[in-house]
Amino acid sequence: MKHLIDIKDLSVEEIDDLIKVANDIIANKEKYSHKCDGKKLATLFFEPSTRTRLSFEAAMLELGGSVLGFSESSSSSVSKGESVADTIRVVGCYSDIIAMRHPKEGAPLVACEKSTVPIINAGDGGHNHPTQTLTDLLTISREKGRLNNLTIGLCGDLKFGRTVHSLATAMSRYSGIKFVLISPDELKMPDYIKKNVLEKNNIEYCETKSIEEHLPELDILYMTRVQKERFFNEDDYVRLKDYYILNKAKLENAKKDLSILHPLPRVNEISTDVDDDPRAKYFEQALCGKYIRMALILNMLGIK
Ligand code: CP
Repeated sequence: MKHLIDIKDLSVEEIDDLIKVANDIIANKEKYSHKCDGKKLATLFFEPSTRTRLSFEAAMLELGGSVLGFSESSSSSVSKGESVADTIRVVGCYSDIIAMRHPKEGAPLVACEKSTVPIINAGDGGHNHPTQTLTDLLTISREKGRLNNLTIGLCGDLKFGRTVHSLATAMSRYSGIKFVLISPDELKMPDYIKKNVLEKNNIEYCETKSIEEHLPELDILYMTRVQKERFFNEDDYVRLKDYYILNKAKLENAKKDLSILHPLPRVNEISTDVDDDPRAKYFEQALCGKYIRMALILNMLGIK
């Protein structure tokens, strides 16, 4: 049985295969509409979500399967003191596959040790978000036609933003990748990602506080929200939350074929006047999330 806890659980070849299947689903939706007849996906979300939970549910429904689950821990027996391990073991009696989000780093890893069905990590604290990364990779490959030879700016909360940790890990396995890490000092990319991922894979990167400085050389600008829920101190959050606000004027010197991505939700970090710019791809990205999760469900259930 296969689980997806970390993006590294998938080889580059497996990721390429998922992207191929997702593209085929986009082109031939009808062909896939009964692939999961009789199968059930449980979505166990111990932390809020719009895109990840609903795109997982839409994905399973469009494959012909059914969904069950909860969207907050207060409506489950976890609120009575039940452990995550027991919850997972029980939900495995009612479903064929589980997508789980939890505020504690490592919770999905603990869950998969007790699970009788495949577990997908739908985000664990400030750690990882592998299915967002699959979404990002599908979006980049569709927009750019490649996953190599790209200069990628990661901007905002690189400390607590789990999406950028998983994305940096995934992209470090492709050739010709350069990262520009744009953040205030307090929200820099953690050392373990810089040392164990970027430096270990000889990935060129630089760190800066300025979004304007490297904008003209970027192929991808990946904006992120300052993660309010991970701050211990409200004053720090208030001081940093609007550090970057991307607007139309700032894009003046950017490449004409730049792709602006954001895992969403956004707060103020991308002004709505950017939404009509043809380079803004974050809503297409959200749609890609459904198709890559369809491909992933098929893969993890062993359905061709
Ligand atoms: N991108 C993302 O994980 O969004 P949600 O928190 O709405 O699921």
